[in-house]
Amino acid sequence: MLRTRPTLALTAVAALMLGSAHASTAQEPGEDRGHAVYLDAAAPVERRVSDLLRRMTLEEKVGQMAQIRLGKLRGNCDYGPGPLVESCMKAVLSDAKVGSILSGGGDNPAPDPSPKAWAEMTNAIQKYALEHQRLRIPIIYGADGVHGHSNLPAAVMFPHQIGLGATWNPELIQQAGKATGEAMRATGVFWNFAPVSDLARDTRWGRYYEAYSEDPFLAGSLAAAAVKGMQTPASDTAQLTATAKHFAGYSQPFNGHDRANAFIPVRQLQDSVLPPFQAQFDAGVKTVMINSGAINGIPVHASRYMLVEQLRERMGFQGVAVSDWEDMKKLVTHHKVAADYPSAIAMSVNAGVDMAMEPSDAQAFTQGLVTVVRDGRVSQRRIDEAVRRILKLKFELGLFEKPFVDPAKAEQAVRGNGADLSRKAATESMVLLRNEKSTLPLSSSAKKLVVTGDTADDARRQLGGWTVEWQGVPPNGPFPETTTVLEGLKAAAPQTEISHAQDQATAVAEAKTADAVVVVLGEKEGAEGTADTEDPSLSPAQQQLVDAVQATGKPVVVVLLTGRGRVLGSVADADALLSGWLPGTEGGHAVADVLFGKANPSGKLPVSWPKTVGDQPMSYDQLPGANAGVSSQYDPAYPFGFGLSYTSFEIGAPAAPGIVKARDNVKVSVTVRNTGSRAGTEIVPVYVQQPVSVVQVPERRLVGFTKVTLNPGEQKSVEVTFDTDQLALTMGDVDGAGRREVPKGGYLVEAGGKTTPLTLR
Ligand code: BGC
Ligand code: BGC
Repeated sequence: MLRTRPTLALTAVAALMLGSAHASTAQEPGEDRGHAVYLDAAAPVERRVSDLLRRMTLEEKVGQMAQIRLGKLRGNCDYGPGPLVESCMKAVLSDAKVGSILSGGGDNPAPDPSPKAWAEMTNAIQKYALEHQRLRIPIIYGADGVHGHSNLPAAVMFPHQIGLGATWNPELIQQAGKATGEAMRATGVFWNFAPVSDLARDTRWGRYYEAYSEDPFLAGSLAAAAVKGMQTPASDTAQLTATAKHFAGYSQPFNGHDRANAFIPVRQLQDSVLPPFQAQFDAGVKTVMINSGAINGIPVHASRYMLVEQLRERMGFQGVAVSDWEDMKKLVTHHKVAADYPSAIAMSVNAGVDMAMEPSDAQAFTQGLVTVVRDGRVSQRRIDEAVRRILKLKFELGLFEKPFVDPAKAEQAVRGNGADLSRKAATESMVLLRNEKSTLPLSSSAKKLVVTGDTADDARRQLGGWTVEWQGVPPNGPFPETTTVLEGLKAAAPQTEISHAQDQATAVAEAKTADAVVVVLGEKEGAEGTADTEDPSLSPAQQQLVDAVQATGKPVVVVLLTGRGRVLGSVADADALLSGWLPGTEGGHAVADVLFGKANPSGKLPVSWPKTVGDQPMSYDQLPGANAGVSSQYDPAYPFGFGLSYTSFEIGAPAAPGIVKARDNVKVSVTVRNTGSRAGTEIVPVYVQQPVSVVQVPERRLVGFTKVTLNPGEQKSVEVTFDTDQLALTMGDVDGAGRREVPKGGYLVEAGGKTTPLTLR
C-alpha cells in the first residue's frame, strides 16, 4: 500500500491533542475520512466498526491483529534499552501497521521509569501511530498490572493474588482493582493482563502465587470482583480492559512445570477449570489471554475446541482473544505441530486467536498472515471476525476519542494510590495457622524482640515476581517503597529493642535476653518456569534456624512470606505460625499489626497446605478414593478454609428452605457468635454436599461465603445466597460426553461443620 497523498482532515480530538501533527498521513483515493461514521463518537459501536472495517486493506487488518513489545520501538530496535527511536517505530507501527504494544515483564521507559515518563512514552507511541497509520486507529497499550501497576517502581504493590485469596473479600479486591486501573490508565496503559482465573492446585508450579485459590467458586468470585474494579468507568481518560488469563487449564501442567502439557478430562475442565473464567466473562471482562500450554496433547492456542466450542459457543465470550507471549511461533519451535511460522499463524488464527502477542517480529507475523490469507488457508471472514472484535474493543474503551493521557496527572494517580488499601488487604490476608500457649499476640510492652530469617528485611522477596520486572525487582533497579517486617515491627513498637539477627548464631545468642523471637522465612522471588520447584518445602537451613531458636526455650513466632504453602518439616512445631503470603509494599506493617494484636487475624486458607512433598497436586475437592485410612484421602497439614483468630466463634446450624426448584436461588442463613474476649472477623464458607450422585462429586463444594465482624459476645445472623446452577455436573462416562446439568434430588447444605437437608425438585 503506497501512502503518498497528504492528509485532508484530522479528527477533532486527535488534531487538538497533536497540535503540531505533520502531514504524513495519507488517504486512499476517494476516501472522505472527515465525515466517516467510524470517527463519529455518537454513532453506535457496531456501525463504527463496520464503517472502519470496510475501509481497511488486508495489511491494515492483520496489523491490528499484532501485539509487539516495547523493546522493538527503542534503543537498538530489540532488547537494548533507551528512548523511543523513530526508525524502530517506523518498522513496527508504520510498515507493519501494528495495532497494539505491550510492556513485557521488564519493559520500563528508559532511563526514567517514573509515571510521568510512562505517560509521555505511551503518548509518543500513540502519536506516532496516529500520524503514520492511514486510518488513524489508536493503538492499545498492555501491561501486567497483576498486583498493582506492577512495572512501576513508583506504584503501590498489593498482595499477590494468593494473598488476596486468603481475604475472601471481593469488595476489597474490587477496590484494589480500581486503584490499579486508575494508576494504569493515568500512564496510558488501557489493557491490564490480569486477573488470573487459573486454579492454584500444585505448589511445584512457579506461578502458584498468581492464582487466588484452588477452589473454582472462590477463584471466580474474586476474579470477577477484580474485573469490576479494574474496569470501573472512567471520565478522565479512555477506559481500561482487564484480561481473563490464562484460558484455560494453564495451572495444571501434569508434572508441575510451567507450560508442560496438562491432562484434563472434559468433566474436570467444565466443572472446575472453566467456571472461574465464566465468572470473569459474566462480570464483563473484555479480553481473554490464551493458555501457553497444551491440554491432552493439543496446544490451547491451536484448539478450536477450546477457543470456539467452549469459549464462544458454550461460554458466550464475545471479546478479544489474545495469545500469550510468542505462542504462535512456539507451535513451530516448541510444540512442533506446525512446520513453519505461516502455518502456525494459520492454525492459531483458525482456532480462534484474534491477536498475537507476537511479540518481537512484527513483519514475520503480518506478512505470514497475509500469505496464508492470500493462499486461502485463512478466510477473509475469519480475519474480519478477529479485527471486528479488536476494533470494537478500541471503540468501546473510547480510545478513538481519548487516545492520550495527561502526563502531569500521572504521578499523583500512581504514587501512594491504594497504600491504605494495600495495608488493609495485607492485614486481611494473614492466616494464623498455629498459636500454642497463646504466644500471639505479642505484648507491645515487650522489652526485646529478636527478628531473624531470610525475609525479615528483604523487600525483593516480600514483593515477589512481577514487581518492576517479571522475575521481581532487578538487582540494581529502583524499588517500590516497601516496609519490611523488620521495619514494620520497629515502627509498631518504638519502645521495644528490636535486634535484627542476620545469622543463626546471633539469633540464638540474642534470644537469651529477648522476650520472643520472630523468624521470617520466604522464598526467592521469581516467575514462570524459573520459580518452579520440585521440592516445595522449607529448606533445611530454614528449618534449622527455627529449631535452633526454639531450643532456647523462648517463644518463637514464624512468619511465612511464601507464594505457596511450603511443606513445613520441623517448623510445623514452632509456637506460632503466621502465613502472610507475598504481602506487597505494606506487608511489614500488616505483619506487625497482627503480631502485636492491633489487628486480629481473619484470613482463611484459599488453598490446602500440604503436609509432605509428593502430595501435589492437592485440593480439598479431590474425589473420594477407595482405600481405607488416609492413603487415598485428603490429608493436608492445614485444610482449605483453615485459619485461627485471637478470639473464638460459634457458628449455628445453617437454615435453608428445604425444598427448592432447579434454577432457583437458595438462601442460607447462619448465626455467628463471637465467644471470645476480642473483636474479630469470621469468614463463613457455605458448602453443599451431595450424598449420592451418578458421577463422583467432591465430598463438599463451596457455593458461597460471607465475612462478619463481631464484638466480644456479639451475635449476628448472616445470609449467603447461591444459585443451584452452581451445582451443575458434566454427565457421561469416563469420556464426560454427557450434558452439563444440575442433578435433582437430595443435598446437604453445610456451614460451620453442621448441615441441613436440601431437596432439588
Ligand atoms: C505470561 C503472561 C503475561 C505475558 C506478558 C507471559 O509470559 O505468561 O501472564 O501476561 O507474558 O508479560
Ligand atoms: C516471559 C514474559 C515476560 C518477558 C519479559 C518472557 O520470556 O514469558 O512473561 O514478560 O519474557 O521480557
